[in-house]
Amino acid sequence: MSASRFPEGFRWGAATASYQIEGAWDEDGKGASIWDTFCHAPGNIRGGDTGDVACDHYHRYADDVALMRDLGLRAYRFSVSWPRVVPGGVGAVNQLGLDFYDRLVDALLAAKIEPALTLFHWDLPQALQDRGGWASRETIDAFVAYADVVSARLADRVAMWVTHNEPSVVATDGHVVGEHAPGLTDPALGIQVAHHLLVSHGLAVPVLRTNGAREVGIAINVWPQEPATDTPEDVAAAERQYAAEAGWFLDPLYAEGYPAEIMATYERLGWAPKVSSGDMEAIAAPIDFLGLNYYSRSVVRADPASEPFGTEGVDEPGEYTDVGWLVIPDGLYDLLMRVHRDHEPAAIYITENGAAFTDVVSSDGAIHDARRVAYLSGHFEAAARAVADGAPLRGFFVWSLMDNFEWAEGYSKRFGLVRVDYETLERTVKDSGWFLRDVIRENTPRSLGAS
Ligand code: GCO
Repeated sequence: MSASRFPEGFRWGAATASYQIEGAWDEDGKGASIWDTFCHAPGNIRGGDTGDVACDHYHRYADDVALMRDLGLRAYRFSVSWPRVVPGGVGAVNQLGLDFYDRLVDALLAAKIEPALTLFHWDLPQALQDRGGWASRETIDAFVAYADVVSARLADRVAMWVTHNEPSVVATDGHVVGEHAPGLTDPALGIQVAHHLLVSHGLAVPVLRTNGAREVGIAINVWPQEPATDTPEDVAAAERQYAAEAGWFLDPLYAEGYPAEIMATYERLGWAPKVSSGDMEAIAAPIDFLGLNYYSRSVVRADPASEPFGTEGVDEPGEYTDVGWLVIPDGLYDLLMRVHRDHEPAAIYITENGAAFTDVVSSDGAIHDARRVAYLSGHFEAAARAVADGAPLRGFFVWSLMDNFEWAEGYSKRFGLVRVDYETLERTVKDSGWFLRDVIRENTPRSLGAS
């Protein structure tokens, strides 16, 4: 047996999100979310799919926890549906909604699985969107009040709290590109929304701690940016793109303020966020861990004519997943070492990493998803190398526990360790699920040749 290459107590797990798996979109007092609204509007989601039923996890959570136990997960990252708990976004609490998460947490603990709770994974109460959503500072206060309600009920049993999942995607895909809810397309609005998300994170941190949360952090998606050549122009272009996409979030979280060069660009374009007194101090509230969602990395070259950053993406040969992301495990190693060097987080978790590939159900009912096994094997190896080189990596959550609603792609893309038959909702563990079980048992990457 090869010696373990991850620390003792490494939090191996899998991740999901409320809107992507729960279903029961209007049950037991739940209010509408912006994703319910967005999906019910024709044309927004591939195939007209919605999260109305999804994986029906709301009713099947006990069986799903049993599956997690069979996989030997040590932790499970899930998100709370804000409108299930506070239907109007602020004010009255829906006890039936809180009761669901209470039952889920108790089922996880009974199975000796640590709950890792994300407060916001994109499903904003529609009632708040009707009053401006994340563009309004009211939503900052509403988020802090929601964090108070959830942590007051669950912080005695939930160790790990993630305030936000991928604020850059909420800001960009939801408010600039428009492919995500609420479907807006205004660059300046997106940057203001990103600022409010970060402020709401920082103001929620002390509230979570007061209610007993022992580990508080945030999950940031980061795509390392490689220069197309080693010319000074391309190297600078890659740094600018990284600063715009990752530094814009990581730097203020670690009290370094917004990257000056990017802020100057936004000021030139009239997109700079309105920053109120105390905002930057709030954003820099000390956190116990940094969550990183890693899927791939990009290659960038200088292109002075290209707005807003004078950069252009460069395609590169290689293996791509079904959502068009290059398979590049070395990018995970590079990311971990860069973040460790730049910000020295007390702890880092990979809060998401995984791959969408087309799965085939064999005649014997098994799903031999060899490409996903290889993808995970490569990324576990990269993570182990980073640990060996000093990165404070404390856990790894595979995206995703089960196939689920993949936002604008609907159910067309499958990321799960467990297959969901959307006709019957039957679950079937894929080879990648059993592969993760074996990795967890040995607490070390398994070479694919291992028996
Ligand atoms: C994200 C979200 C997940 C996605 C997953 C695959 O990172 O975009 O956190 O909800 O489903 O990453 O795209």
